[in-house]
Amino acid sequence: MYDSNPTLEGIKTIDEAKQGNVLFKEHWQESSVPGGKKFYIESYGCQMNFSDSEIVASILNDVGYSPTRNVEESDLILINTCSIREKAEETVRKRLRFFESIKKQRPGTKVGVLGCMAERLKKQWLEEEKLVDLVVGPDAYRDLPNLIGGAEEGHRLINVLLSREETYADINPVRLESNGITAFISIMRGCDNMCSFCVVPFTRGRERSRDPFSILAEATGLFENGYREVTLLGQNVDSFKWENPETGERVNFANLLEMTALIHPNLRVRFSTSHPKDMTDDVLHVMAKYDNICKYIHLPVQSGNSRVLEMMNRTYDRPWYEDRIEAIRRILPDAAVSSDIITGFCSETEEEHRDTLNIVEWANFSMSYMFFYSERPGTLAARKYADDIPEEVKKRRLNEIIRLQNAVSLRHNQADIGKTFNVLIEGNSRKSDLDFCGRNTQNKMMVFPKKEGLKPGDYALVRVKDATSATLLGEIV
Ligand code: SAH
Ligand code: SF4
Ligand code: F3S
Repeated sequence: MYDSNPTLEGIKTIDEAKQGNVLFKEHWQESSVPGGKKFYIESYGCQMNFSDSEIVASILNDVGYSPTRNVEESDLILINTCSIREKAEETVRKRLRFFESIKKQRPGTKVGVLGCMAERLKKQWLEEEKLVDLVVGPDAYRDLPNLIGGAEEGHRLINVLLSREETYADINPVRLESNGITAFISIMRGCDNMCSFCVVPFTRGRERSRDPFSILAEATGLFENGYREVTLLGQNVDSFKWENPETGERVNFANLLEMTALIHPNLRVRFSTSHPKDMTDDVLHVMAKYDNICKYIHLPVQSGNSRVLEMMNRTYDRPWYEDRIEAIRRILPDAAVSSDIITGFCSETEEEHRDTLNIVEWANFSMSYMFFYSERPGTLAARKYADDIPEEVKKRRLNEIIRLQNAVSLRHNQADIGKTFNVLIEGNSRKSDLDFCGRNTQNKMMVFPKKEGLKPGDYALVRVKDATSATLLGEIV
């Protein structure tokens, strides 16, 4: 059974939590000193990287650097990089060519490579890329002021030390590019799984969980500043674990989720990513208990075939995954489940590929992020298996998966026509200022005509009138 009575010790009142004092956009705009230095940051990869950029912004803010959206006026250009697939790395290389042209116009400008590619390639950067002044890995951002100081004196510096403890728990992220309504909170860092295709354990280091009270303080601070949704982030949130060093009290993910839900009924809680091997029924029961925990689970399957899953070292097989989906259907009948899928993994046969197609159908994923396999240097798969599926086969299989997933998503969405959902209004729709957009509990984007008196951050009951594979179209009831 899950602990149905988690304590909120350490965060007794909202005022106390506010002393956690999350730093918001308005603060940094005020703090931008005329004539002060400016940094420009671009982020790639997963949400955790975007979250890290907000931590970097906060660290830089403290030493007098303010953010700018205009790269041409920046004194420091930072690129927070991703190594997950070859294409992600190629994109970064292309951006560096562009930054090179900026640096030619403003020779004093410093360029720093942050994140997963910094960690993966380390000092190779300094050897191969003349324009790079700084190389900083994901656990070394506290060292940025020092490194930047050195770069200003003309040195080229690197810090790619990984840490077993660093969670940046005490750093209040500067919310960059925020809609002021939804925010992401990193609850852990690193990953201790060793999926054979994946570079993350190498670029992000060992898994560690953040002090839950700092998480709750951050979420509470956000709520008090008008935010209405937080997404708890980790590579594998189900393995969140923390022990109070003084009392020995333990907090697992189900407990953390419940504590976050208890902050306020109007604060929605989401999380990502769940791992099929670790997702417990306790988490599902907590989700069922609180209306403000969104009924949506991102549960990447990767492949529908047990042999391929074994080679991927995912540590579950197809029956196990199916059992997890059945548990969701039993405990949370209205929840939507989405997935990540890789096609053309080493030695995958046509029949095994068809197993992935039919699990998409069977699991009825509301949507999926779909990729063809990209071998990453140093990973288990790169060392053990031949990357032997020709690229055109990988891509053909990927297209088959995408086509099927689109049809399944459309069917999933069409089944919502006539239903009414509580939607958190996030802002204007992308296509028209006359429409609002916002997501329902299942994480489906809904678009609907505005109504007088309602604004972003409000909740509205919206009835679905029509659906595409990506969006529900509705009207406020
Ligand atoms: N921690 C998450 C995934 C993080 S990476 C999890 O375990 O589910 C996001 C997704 O990128 C993965 O789920 C996988 O589908 C994809 N991915 C990771 N490495 C890849 C590779 N080498 N080639 C293609 N896709 C990959
Ligand atoms: Fe990569 Fe697997 Fe960790 Fe996800 S769980 S980050 S896929 S190693
Ligand atoms: Fe990419 Fe690093 Fe995230 S490799 S997906 S940015 S953890």
